[in-house]
Amino acid sequence: MATAPNKTLPFTFRPMHVEDLPSVLDIERRSFRAPWSAGTFLAEMKNEWARLRVAVDTRRFIVGYINYWLVADEVHLLNIATHPDSRQQGIARHLIEQMFDEGRSHGCRLVTLEVRVSNHAAIALYNSFGFETVAVRVKYYVEDNEDALVMVAPIDGPGPQI
Ligand SMILES: CC(C)(COP(=O)(O)OP(=O)(O)OC[C@H]1O[C@@H](n2cnc3c(N)ncnc32)[C@H](O)[C@@H]1OP(=O)(O)O)[C@@H](O)C(=O)NCCC(=O)NCCS
Repeated sequence: MATAPNKTLPFTFRPMHVEDLPSVLDIERRSFRAPWSAGTFLAEMKNEWARLRVAVDTRRFIVGYINYWLVADEVHLLNIATHPDSRQQGIARHLIEQMFDEGRSHGCRLVTLEVRVSNHAAIALYNSFGFETVAVRVKYYVEDNEDALVMVAPIDGPGPQI
């Protein structure tokens, strides 16, 4: 079932373009201890499995983005961030809702991701979508040896029965 559009949200959502990279990289650097490079984003844009979307505010400024893969019957969430000045306004929630909708329309059955054990905001966000921890990857983040939770959520709704 498609998610109803949030008519009160003052943001629009569209695919990420190369011209968006300076804004995306600014948010990336403000959001992560080991931010992705421009080259990593460019490689994702050329990856046939990858989907990249941005959230744009009423000034047409980029305030968030998401990057996920559609691989066989799984969605893998690789990256999501909201500009620090625009957090807790529903942007990440909306980006994830769109990811679930696209995964569902492709017949995917589940979404997987990794998240730092200390990232309580992201874990709360994922829990609210039904993600559950299925494994811990010890010292997954090489820059500081922090563990990662592997989280999985089912995608309900019509899709191929396997
Ligand atoms: C995690 C992140 C993407 C959330 O983005 P956001 O746009 O602020 O999130 P939303 O406003 O859509 O919040 C949705 C839900 O997430 C949870 N959440 C978001 N921020 C939170 C916080 N600071 N503390 C606790 N829960 C939080 C809540 O459950 C919230 O639902 P609610 O508003 O009904 O309480 C953002 O904090 C961020 O960019 N962090 C840095 C990058 C990052 O950690 N990415 C995830 C990597 S795995």
